[in-house]
Amino acid sequence: MNPENLLLETDGAVALIRLHRPKQLNALNDALMDELGAALARFDADDDIGCIVLTGSERAFAAGADIAAMAPKTFDQVLREDFISRNWEQILRVRKPVIAAVAGYALGGGCELAMMCDFIIAADDARFGQPEIKIGIIPGAGGTQRLPRAVGKSKAMDMVLSARMMDAQEAERSGLVSRVVPAARLLDEAMDTARTIAAFPRQSVMMAKECVNRAYSAPLADGLLFERRAFHSLFATHDQKEGMDAFLAKRAPKFENR
Ligand code: HXC
Repeated sequence: MNPENLLLETDGAVALIRLHRPKQLNALNDALMDELGAALARFDADDDIGCIVLTGSERAFAAGADIAAMAPKTFDQVLREDFISRNWEQILRVRKPVIAAVAGYALGGGCELAMMCDFIIAADDARFGQPEIKIGIIPGAGGTQRLPRAVGKSKAMDMVLSARMMDAQEAERSGLVSRVVPAARLLDEAMDTARTIAAFPRQSVMMAKECVNRAYSAPLADGLLFERRAFHSLFATHDQKEGMDAFLAKRAPKFENR
């Protein structure tokens, strides 16, 4: 079924997902998050896809969870329906890389969604913030946990407590985004990067992603052991032999994703 709140495209081995609720600055409601989860799962299962780019519009990546949809909800209701946990976290189960390409506002749940991606490329007009405090709540999709890991306690506290927004340059200085590019170049830069990643051996890419993520969930010694075994296991692949032989023979490798 075609999603109503997303635009989906593929370009070779790269899938592009655009959040598409333009009138609401891509405010994230249940319908959109259900569709996003389904699209991510579909591209993750598609052998022809090696990397996914998630983006919004020029004006907003996403201005947050949909305040109109949240406003009438009660405690009983959000608890019973497992609000956020039910359909926001499919992205964390995707094993292929997901790059967030952020232009304009990434606020509240929009900032949290970008932080759930593997890395963020920002347009020079991007603005990041966790302004939930202004409407009587707090970040609820990981902002209080992922933001301090990305930018440190002081900046995270500042943003979460005062609702101050961070511009793209500060976000890059602070480590929230991997690079800043002119707004007009954002999508090309993200797609080029995705194409580069998608051309590398799929199994190496997946293991590299899993290993980096371990840095945030395991003690150092366990993370190092996890990395070492993943590293060892890649010597069982065709693409390790091919990649190293090609380097030594000074020719381009032909990877087969096996
Ligand atoms: C619903 C939203 C929205 C949102 C914007 N809109 N953000 N609708 N939920 N989060 C709607 C506006 O109501 C408006 O609709 C239209 O989009 C354009 O927005 P404007 O406010 O007119 O635009 P502008 O003056 O340019 O201001 C842009 C803005 C502002 C600074 C981004 O819209 C804003 O502050 N939005 C709310 C940001 C926010 O608080 N986000 C956190 C939400 S809580 P109409 O119909 O009037 O044209 C959250 C919880 C996370 O995310 C926890 C769990 C996920």
